[in-house]
Order: sequence, then structure tokens, then C-alpha cells
Amino acid sequence: MEHYAPSNIALIKYWGKRNQALHLPLNSSISLSLGEYGSYTSLEENAEDVFILNEEALPSSQSMSKKVFQFIDLWQSNRPRLCVRSRNTVPTAAGLASSASGFAALTLALNDFFNWNHNLTELSRRARQGSGSACRSFWRGFVKWEKGTREDGWDSHGVPLEALQWPDLCLAFLPLNQKLKSVSSRDGMQHTVASSPLHRVWAAQAEADLIALEEALQQRNIQGVGEIMEANALMMHATMLAARPALFYWEAETLKQWHRVQDLRAAGLKVYMTADAGPNIKLLYLQEDEALIRQHFPESVVVKPFQA
Ligand code: PMV
Repeated sequence: MEHYAPSNIALIKYWGKRNQALHLPLNSSISLSLGEYGSYTSLEENAEDVFILNEEALPSSQSMSKKVFQFIDLWQSNRPRLCVRSRNTVPTAAGLASSASGFAALTLALNDFFNWNHNLTELSRRARQGSGSACRSFWRGFVKWEKGTREDGWDSHGVPLEALQWPDLCLAFLPLNQKLKSVSSRDGMQHTVASSPLHRVWAAQAEADLIALEEALQQRNIQGVGEIMEANALMMHATMLAARPALFYWEAETLKQWHRVQDLRAAGLKVYMTADAGPNIKLLYLQEDEALIRQHFPESVVVKPFQA
């Protein structure tokens, strides 16, 4: 049986851990789930451990395959050999957060296969240890990852913000580059925390951004939400630029699109952007501007998170 989890895009980013092993973040974050864009995962007994991603069996030495079985062994050491079959409806590891939906779908599949009978909060806690952002992929709509304060990570998990529905809110991907990224977010954030002087001010600002964002979401204020989201994303990238050596996921095309967004906004269109650990840009706007967005960004992939 296939289990599904949506991907998610952080409006307030998680960038940096206070505990590497348990994937405990330095700041809380808020994401928007991507409806039908995500991962489907199923498990079956097999003669050997195999991870099949998008119809292709990955070599067991491949880092993603290793991560998958390390994750399974963390929670289920007494187990048969398994074939893990996963397919993504978003491009893998191109900054479109497929590891989040992948680990969430895998955790749902494990819960079913081994009859754990855990609730979504416990599954979110567990998925967090596969990929931090996976803990936000168990729900639709807006989800907050409470950073928690406990050393064992018990209070660090996703919480759905169910009261915040926004049917008109749209998101579009501009898939500029679908290559695998050269520095994983796991390594990138560790390097940033260890060497970027700007990272020292990041966590406090992200917490302040989160409070402001929740208020703007409550008011369905697209300008407020958009401006906070953009500033937060740009600050995250600034912390990476100040790392030594610098880490920069953007490409020339990323900056070009970013200028287009600014120009369109100057001309009155309410469109805002964010970018994760990759060159791809995501746009946030309201349904009423859909025709204009499609006209200006014909290559974009549109998601309606509250209409799926
Ligand atoms: O959880 P990871 O290791 O996939 O890191 C996610 C990092 C960002 O996507 C850049 C930000 C976020 O909060 O999703």
C-alpha cells in the first residue's frame, strides 16, 4: 500500500540545529504544504534492502539510500530486509523539499507496516530525525514546527495551524534547475552555524519573523505575509553568504527571476518569492492574479494548497 505525504515550503525557514543527532532546530519555522506535490512510499519484504526512487534502484552505497535504511534501523532494528519504493511528484533534491515529503511518507509507511499505531505528532517527531523539515509534512495547509526546548526533542514536532485557512492563496514553482544540489541542506546548515558570524543573529530574527507572519496570516494580508517571507528567505541566504567559505545556492537565473519579481511588484502585482537550499524560486500570490502570473512565468508550476 502506498502512503502519501505532501511536500512543504517554509515561509519562515529552519536553518541550523542545536542538536545534530536529534535534528533539533535553533528556531521554530512555518510551512505551507503543497497539496498533490509530494511523495508516495510503500514497503515490502525483500531478499535484501533496496531503495527504489522514481522507478530506479539506488546503489546501497548511495547517500540517500544509506539515509533511508539508517532511518529505518533507528526505529525498527528487528526487521526483515525491505524494498522501499518511493516516487516523488516534485523533482528530487532540487530545492523543492522532496526529502521532507519522502521521509514523512516513509514514516507513514513504517507506521502501517510495523503496526506502530502512532499518532501524527509522534510520527512527526520520528520523521524529524530523517530530515528536519519532514516533521512539517504530515498535514495540509500551514504547519508550524515548534522548536521545543527539551533536550530529548519530545516537544520538537509539527503542529497544524488548522484555524488558518486561506483558499485564495497560490504558490508557483519556477523550476530553473533540476540537478541534484552539490551541498545538502544538512551539510550547508552545519557549515553556516559553524562559520557564519551572521548566523548568530539568525535565530532571534526568525522567531520575530514567525510571530509577525502568524499575525499577517490571521489577517490574510498578502503584502505582510509576502514581505516577511521574502525577508526571512533572504536573511537565511545572507547567513550562508557570510559563511567561510561562502555557500551560495543561487545561480544567475535565480537572480534574474528575483529581479523580475521586484519589477512586477513595482508595477503593482502582489507577488513575492522565497528560495530554499537550491537555485529554484517559489512565488506566493493570490488567485485573482493567476492569469498575470501565468503570463509572466509561463514555465511555472502552480499549486493551490487549500484547493487540493
Ligand atoms: O530538513 P532539511 O534538512 O531538508 O532542511 C530544510 C532547509 C530549508 O528547506 C532550506 C528550510 C526549511 O525550513 O524547509
